[in-house]
Amino acid sequence: MGARVRATVGATVAVALGVASCLGACGSAAPAKPSVVPMADAIPAPVSAHPDPGADFSLTGATVLVSPGGAATTPTDWLAGLLRRGTGFSLPVVAPGGHASSRIVLEVDGSDPTIGDQGYILEISHSQVLIRANAGEGLFDGAETLRQLLPATIETAHSPGPWAVEGGQITDYPLYPWRGASLDVARHFFPVSDVERYIDEVALYKIDVLHLHLSDDQGWRIAISAYPTLTSVGGSTAVGGGTGGYYTQAEYQQIVAYAAGRYITVVPEIDMPGHSNAALASLPQLDCGGKVPPVYTGIDSGISTLCVGTAATDQYVSTVLGELAAITPGPYIDIGGDEDTLISGSEYDAFVSQAAQTVVADGKIPVGWADIATTDDAQGTTATLPTGTITEYWNYQSAPPDTGQNSSEKLKVIFAPADHAYLDQKYDPGTTLGLDWAGPVSVEQAYDWEPTDYGVPSGEIEGVEAALWSETLTSMADIEYMALPRLPGIAEIAWSPPSTHSWSAYRERLAAQAPRWQAMGINYYRAPDVPWPS
Ligand code: ACM
Repeated sequence: MGARVRATVGATVAVALGVASCLGACGSAAPAKPSVVPMADAIPAPVSAHPDPGADFSLTGATVLVSPGGAATTPTDWLAGLLRRGTGFSLPVVAPGGHASSRIVLEVDGSDPTIGDQGYILEISHSQVLIRANAGEGLFDGAETLRQLLPATIETAHSPGPWAVEGGQITDYPLYPWRGASLDVARHFFPVSDVERYIDEVALYKIDVLHLHLSDDQGWRIAISAYPTLTSVGGSTAVGGGTGGYYTQAEYQQIVAYAAGRYITVVPEIDMPGHSNAALASLPQLDCGGKVPPVYTGIDSGISTLCVGTAATDQYVSTVLGELAAITPGPYIDIGGDEDTLISGSEYDAFVSQAAQTVVADGKIPVGWADIATTDDAQGTTATLPTGTITEYWNYQSAPPDTGQNSSEKLKVIFAPADHAYLDQKYDPGTTLGLDWAGPVSVEQAYDWEPTDYGVPSGEIEGVEAALWSETLTSMADIEYMALPRLPGIAEIAWSPPSTHSWSAYRERLAAQAPRWQAMGINYYRAPDVPWPS
């Protein structure tokens, strides 16, 4: 998107006036006004955006960033780094109270309870950009919006500018607290640098949860000091027979810290009792017959289960979850729980119930795929899930947890219905990467749905997640190709008021993101349902 050309979405959007025409008074020598990104074009759509075409701001070599320190330090330093790299300006961070003529001010003022901790108010005028929030994460979200309102060339080191930002005011806050992106590092392993790059890409769209799928049949990806063979054997391969890999605990903590610097919480998942071949190949005591299966490099599911109800498995579960909880500062541990058809329902329920209680005993909130909700429906057994357990709905061919007669009001639900939110599905039958069992999932299909469509009471909806499985993905370029352009649409469903959701308007705003992705070197897919700039 170049010049300001239209008023767009946003629950309340003032009319944006065109600026390009010269109505007689402007002589040929008048400098052209730099074009600006319309503020309501930001993705996710802001709750309200009121452009003021007479009050555009210009970032220049004289601009300073003003921060009181404290909770504002992390977002200010992040923003200063981004802007310095893009512009080459020095952009010093100074304390409040000076008299700079051009300022970007980040302020934690606690003045507006309606925006919560993640919301922000962005006020842009001739001499100042002011981002106000109740907490550091709100300032970060506001800074990501400011980034999108700057020309896309801000993403390229030492670009020439000019750096005009549309004047006006945005008030913005999220619809759901959980706005997740998952990454399957088990089917194929991705190094820390790739995960950090993905974190930066999803943060641009106000994703606040990175769900890391750390184990599956094909690979075990996190060092557990009590069981070194999990990584030396279970981590040694991948789908197709590659060399695999794993994160040391220090590397995992590096990812967690990098994510925290973008206000993203890492949710680690160890999938159990199914999807466990990598663990079984590493530890003979986990198999009922004591047999050690070979490592697995195919892509079938439903091929493995832990032997449940044994002391060895109980020890394994409590040790692995305990080590993971100890290196995870975030409040969640994910126990997986999907697609185990090799044990009985009562065995499954008892196992999941115990694993979830272990997570609680470790001081964390249990998360699992929606399959675990059957545990809570079990009649006449003692198997139950702890109140507040989060279940993730994925299997679009079955009803979500907590609907109708199953509603227990004690579970929360995240929505990742595979036919809308699985980014590993092909875009269309011709896409070379990806699977198609729930697809294809076009860009429109990834955007055009609501978590409230499924009958779960709105108070039990925790959020939305864009899931990226990696059976067919082997590189960062592959990850980007499947995530972009679909992930921003899922982020918008999770953040923006439903009144802003309109595919016909969204596809135009999405198309306007392409120059930014190009400047960031992102390998996105030019899907045919989006009117990309040429
Ligand atoms: C899943 O796709 N089996 C969670």
